[in-house]
Amino acid sequence: MEIFIDSANLEEIRRWLEYGVVDGVTTNPTILLKDGGYDMESRAREIAELIDPRPVSVEVYSNDQREMVEQAKAFARWAPNIIIKIPVINEYGEPSLAVVKALVEDGIRVNMTACMSFGQVVLGAKAGATYISIFAGRVADEGHDAPKLIRQAVDWLREWSYTSKIIAGSVREVYNIQDAALAGAHVITVPPQFMNKLIDHRYTRETVHQFNQDAREALAKMEEVRVGVEA
Ligand code: E4P
Repeated sequence: MEIFIDSANLEEIRRWLEYGVVDGVTTNPTILLKDGGYDMESRAREIAELIDPRPVSVEVYSNDQREMVEQAKAFARWAPNIIIKIPVINEYGEPSLAVVKALVEDGIRVNMTACMSFGQVVLGAKAGATYISIFAGRVADEGHDAPKLIRQAVDWLREWSYTSKIIAGSVREVYNIQDAALAGAHVITVPPQFMNKLIDHRYTRETVHQFNQDAREALAKMEEVRVGVEA
């Protein structure tokens, strides 16, 4: 299973990269805005260079299919490890499958994004998407069972030998990461604040504190014994 960082914050990406646990990065227009990446091209290029050769997803922002293809081709030229995020449908419900197909035929890797249903996964796989992003948190917001959807999608892809990878995104709680991992997600994309929660534990801190304290006490006792012998 791979872990992507769902962020455009260079410092956070660098930090988790240095820990050796990052396999890629995902962004979207909302994340770029939140993390101050107003100049999309320069931030995308910086991330791509930082994590090279790992992939970074950059999303198109248009309802028009021709414009989507143009944006996708331009973004893909910024760096070889840029993956193009194409929303499965546009704001009006028109499928983006022809865009996915055209890009795939052009050798551009696509992350078909904003997926909320099994049907969308099936069509994305058939259109040739490299990644299919299931927005687990938003699926759950609507009252549906996101881990079940992830499990069914992963099983179906395997059953029919599709190579698309399921990215579980839209993490809302640390527990969603465990749920997605155990449901068999190929990738989970995690915002940095949840990475911190994933590693930290109050009782581990307490335990380490006790070990450090006891080691210091043992050293002090050894010193007492040494001084006693020398006296
Ligand atoms: C995934 O690639 C998306 O960037 C992200 O996980 C969406 O999450 P949200 O529902 O918090 O917007």
